[in-house]
Amino acid sequence: MKTIVPPLKCQGIKTKLVPWIRELAGSDFSCWIEPFMGSGVVGFNIRPTKALFADSNPHIISFYKGMQKGQITPASVRAYLKAEGELLRRDGYDHYRFVRDRFNESFDALDFLFLSRAGFNGMMRFSKSGKWNIPFCKKPDRFAQAYITKICNQVDACSQLMLPSWQFLGQDYADTIAHATKDDIIYCDPPYLGRYTDYYNNWTETNEEKLAVLLRNTPARFILSSWHHNEFRTNTFLEKYWSDYNIVTRDHFYHSGAKEENRNAIVEALVFNFSNDGITAHNHGVTIKNKPDQLTFFDQTVNYNVK
Ligand SMILES: C[S@@+](CC[C@H](N)C(=O)[O-])C[C@H]1O[C@@H](n2cnc3c(N)ncnc32)[C@H](O)[C@@H]1O
Repeated sequence: MKTIVPPLKCQGIKTKLVPWIRELAGSDFSCWIEPFMGSGVVGFNIRPTKALFADSNPHIISFYKGMQKGQITPASVRAYLKAEGELLRRDGYDHYRFVRDRFNESFDALDFLFLSRAGFNGMMRFSKSGKWNIPFCKKPDRFAQAYITKICNQVDACSQLMLPSWQFLGQDYADTIAHATKDDIIYCDPPYLGRYTDYYNNWTETNEEKLAVLLRNTPARFILSSWHHNEFRTNTFLEKYWSDYNIVTRDHFYHSGAKEENRNAIVEALVFNFSNDGITAHNHGVTIKNKPDQLTFFDQTVNYNVK
C-alpha cells in the first residue's frame, strides 16, 4: 500500500517506517490511539475506522481539524500558497519573517503550513514563549507551481482518508492514554530524549518514566517508537524502562534536523506489549550497505526479547 505523505513536516517524522509499524499493529483493534501524532503520517496510513489523534502542539491539531471540517481544502491551500509564494519570490526572507510574525500573533493554520514548508530542513520548532522559531530555507522560489501542486495533492489525499469518527485533541499524552480500553491500540512516538528540545518537545526522563508507568497499566495493546543506538551513543533508557517488553529494530536514516547528529543513520526500535511471531527481529528485510561497523556494534549490544 502506498504511503500517503501528509502536508505538515516535523522532526522525527516516521514516513519510511510506516509499513513496519503497520505490519506490527495489524488491524485487530477497536480504536487507534496516537498521543504524539506529529505530522500524523503513521495513523493516517493505518486508516483506522475509529481514531484518537492527539498532540500537545495545538497548531497541529487546529490544522488537521480544519482539514477534517472542510475549512482547509486543496483549493484554499492553492490560492493561499500561490499568493504568499509570489510575495516570497519578490521579498525573500523579509516575507518569510512577515508570515512568521503574523503567525506568532494570530496562529493562522495556513500560515503554519507555509512556515512548515518554507522553514529550514522541514523542521518544526517553537521558542520558550511558544513562537515559531525556525529560519527560512533560503529558497525564495520555494512555492513554484509544481511544489504547490504537490502540497495540494497531500492535502487532498489526507482529507480523503479522514473520517468523521477520527477525533483530534490538543492535550498531554497522559490524558490521551487514559482513553484506551482493552480493545484499542496505542501508538506512542514521543520526542526522543536528548535529541530535540523546544516549547512542545521538552521531553525529560520524568516524562519517559511517567509514560512507562501509564503504558504498564493500560489495558490496551501498545507500540512505542524509540531508538536503539546510533554511531555516537546507545539509548540506555531502552534497557532502564522498556526491557520487560518485546523489541524489534531496524536501520533508519533521518533526513531532517538542525544538528548533524540528528541527520544520521540510527537503529530504530519498536517496543510492544503483545506477542508477534511474524515480525523480523532486526532490519525487516532491509540492510544499510557499507555500514559493517554499525551492524557489528548493534550485534554486540542488542538483547532481543521477542517471544
Ligand atoms: C517525534 S514527534 C512525532 C512524530 C510522528 N510520529 C510523525 O511521524 O510525524 C513527537 C510529537 O510529540 C509531541 N509532544 C511532545 N510532548 C508531548 C506531550 N507531553 N504530550 C503530547 N504530545 C507531546 C510533539 O509536539 C511532537 O509532535
